[in-house]
Amino acid sequence: MSDFVKVNRDGDVAVVIIDNPPVNALSFHVREPLMQALVELRDDSSVAAIVIACAGRTFVAGADITEFGKPVQQPDLRAIVATLEAIAKPTIAAIHGTALGGGLELALGCHFRVADADAKLGLPEVKLGLLPGGGGTVRLPRLVGAVKALGVIVSGVPIAATEAHAAGLVDAVFEGDLTAHAVNFGREIARKGGPFTPVRDRDDDLRQTDLAAFDATAADLAKKARGLEAPIACALSVRNAVTLPFDAALAAERALFVKLVASDQSRAQRHLFFAEREAAKLPAKDIVKRRISRVGVIGAGTMGGGIAMAFANGGYPVTLLETNREALQRGLGTIDKNYAVSVSRGSLTEDAKRQRLAQFKGSTDYADLADCDLIVEAVFEDMAVKKEVFGRLEAVARPGAILATNTSYLDINEIAGSTSRPQDVLGLHFFSPANVMKLLEIVRADKTAPDALATVVDLARRIGKVAVVVGVCHGFVGNRMLAARGSESEALLLEGATPRQIDQAFTDFGWPMGPFQMGDLAGLDIGWRNRKARGQTAVIADTLCEQGRFGQKTGKGFYLYENGSRTPVPDPEVKALIRDKASEKGIAPRAISAEEIIERTLYPLINEGAKILEEGIAARASDIDVVWVNGYGFPVGKGGPLFWAGLEGAARIVERLDHWHQRTGKDVFRVAPLLERMAETGSWEAEA
Ligand code: 3HC
Ligand code: NAI
Repeated sequence: MSDFVKVNRDGDVAVVIIDNPPVNALSFHVREPLMQALVELRDDSSVAAIVIACAGRTFVAGADITEFGKPVQQPDLRAIVATLEAIAKPTIAAIHGTALGGGLELALGCHFRVADADAKLGLPEVKLGLLPGGGGTVRLPRLVGAVKALGVIVSGVPIAATEAHAAGLVDAVFEGDLTAHAVNFGREIARKGGPFTPVRDRDDDLRQTDLAAFDATAADLAKKARGLEAPIACALSVRNAVTLPFDAALAAERALFVKLVASDQSRAQRHLFFAEREAAKLPAKDIVKRRISRVGVIGAGTMGGGIAMAFANGGYPVTLLETNREALQRGLGTIDKNYAVSVSRGSLTEDAKRQRLAQFKGSTDYADLADCDLIVEAVFEDMAVKKEVFGRLEAVARPGAILATNTSYLDINEIAGSTSRPQDVLGLHFFSPANVMKLLEIVRADKTAPDALATVVDLARRIGKVAVVVGVCHGFVGNRMLAARGSESEALLLEGATPRQIDQAFTDFGWPMGPFQMGDLAGLDIGWRNRKARGQTAVIADTLCEQGRFGQKTGKGFYLYENGSRTPVPDPEVKALIRDKASEKGIAPRAISAEEIIERTLYPLINEGAKILEEGIAARASDIDVVWVNGYGFPVGKGGPLFWAGLEGAARIVERLDHWHQRTGKDVFRVAPLLERMAETGSWEAEA
């Protein structure tokens, strides 16, 4: 009946098939024929039961996100679900792949849900800064209870079919031909006869909700929201499902959805959704990728160990190489310990731990890297050491093996130039801890071959990383912009702000932690060494390092960490040091507002981002946002530095940067027109 919705008949059971690749989103061109089909089947007396199934790789994965922010074309999802729910004959959703968001809400409009054993069901709207707006917050609690629904909706994390079955969301789980099973299920149910109770009327579980326990759980979740509105709205809406009549709760859910969908936070999170997918695309689609069966990692320190785990977790066997047996054993021991922590937290089974560990082969002999298709070095940050390692690799690596460096700052063109196969050399800049952090900056050097690049972009997705391709420069995208932020933090200290005050301004903005807490955690010595190598200084941080205050690892940094505690405590000695250094420079302390702290640290960072774009080091403004959100904890609700710059307004930023230029002499004028042009063309936002 339409290209996107077809109806097949299997005797007296009608099967409605939605076919809207790639993920069967509920676009207007689906909703219109779907509504029409449901009305016709409702009124067709020869139909005893209706199955809703999907073609392709998945059940409906949600509303069509590209339609948000545009006028709603009727019928909307709520109208479809209301029509579906009012049908007197049994309706069954046959779920394979992922039933997400509006997809699950459609399924909740059916009397029954059956699922393929591998299916996943969830309401991930919160990750787009939304709440389920098609009745999900009101219907899901009626099937699984309010507390379980709260967890599913506020986390946005899908659950497996078996868990959904145990919770009462799914009525049967099948292996094999799901549509055939669903048809049999429908026929059998219809034969037994009704009445068939719609989900809206199944509120027995809800009446038993312990509201005090619910509120306690919701309060815990609210604490973790870090200024995001959507998780709070989700919790409120599930509570409404308990305390209000169905229709009133549904209306309240709608009102919250309408408010959120127009909010800057949701716009920011939708921007990030498309930005991440855009970043992973390469201009040339038809490149034949290289085969990666085994990965080699050189150096089993902080990064090498984490990188090796990232590949093992993604299912790749890893050869881990160190300089001697002792260092190797230490590295492998840390990996073992990290997996043990996952087991003790319940996120990994003993069996899975054993399987992961079985992926590792330790070695101290470069010849053992001969069968690796990708080799990532994570040795000391020193050009001479890196070149020596690449020299040894050349002798053993098989032709066509990709040779990658995890360097934070060094010139990858120079490393590539020291080998006879620069086409195989690129940067894979993981973030610490590499087995946890999502971001992977993939650094394209001048001579990197397109197929080598395409291979690692694809590989990144396979190991669950968010990849961004960047060009060679000091610190690439992320660390280069971080340096721009750092220089102003010191200036603010000298002018009168305290580390605590600056960190507080950052956490109030939505960062997980401020720059000084972050520095103490990562180790202040890293930046110190880097500054020394570049002939730069940071008067406070350098002095702290000279005093052996490297941060948490030495119990003292910008803060005190007493008796191994990780809680930062302001230190009067640091305060005195800052005041001494300020008076040496003749700077009188003054009161500094949180607004000034944010503008003076983040506008120069945006300025650096604009320069990076101008130089072509990043291909898109949205790529920079992906780097900052996934690698440095930039608040998702602000969409990344360049999306946020769009919200702040180019005129305001340019005006403030002008002051900054006058004070520091740093170059901003070149980027001002770029910022203004980006604002005019709307290129702050990733295209849907
Ligand atoms: N709307 C529009 N486009 C969507 C979409 C959606 N809901 N979900 C995915 N797409 C697009 C992607 O942008 C991508 O397009 P591209 O190829 O042009 O880049 C394409 O579909 C494939 O997506 P992925 O690359 O993400 O494919 P994967 O196989 O890796 O993942 C998925 C599939 C798990 C379904 C993942 O796409 C996903 O999580 N999608 C979003 C699910 C979601 O958030 N649903 C809720 C939407 S909001 C809602 O329903 C509101 C309602 O309550 C009213
Ligand atoms: P680390 O000091 O913890 O580990 C380096 C390891 O390399 C040591 O175990 C050492 O024994 C080994 N090693 C040194 N020379 C070797 C050689 N020739 N062959 C084999 N092994 C050798 O250092 P870390 O922090 O892991 O850094 C490694 C690299 O990763 C550096 O280039 C660094 O800039 C980069 N990086 C570090 C990040 C961090 O947060 N620590 C983040 C991102 C990148």
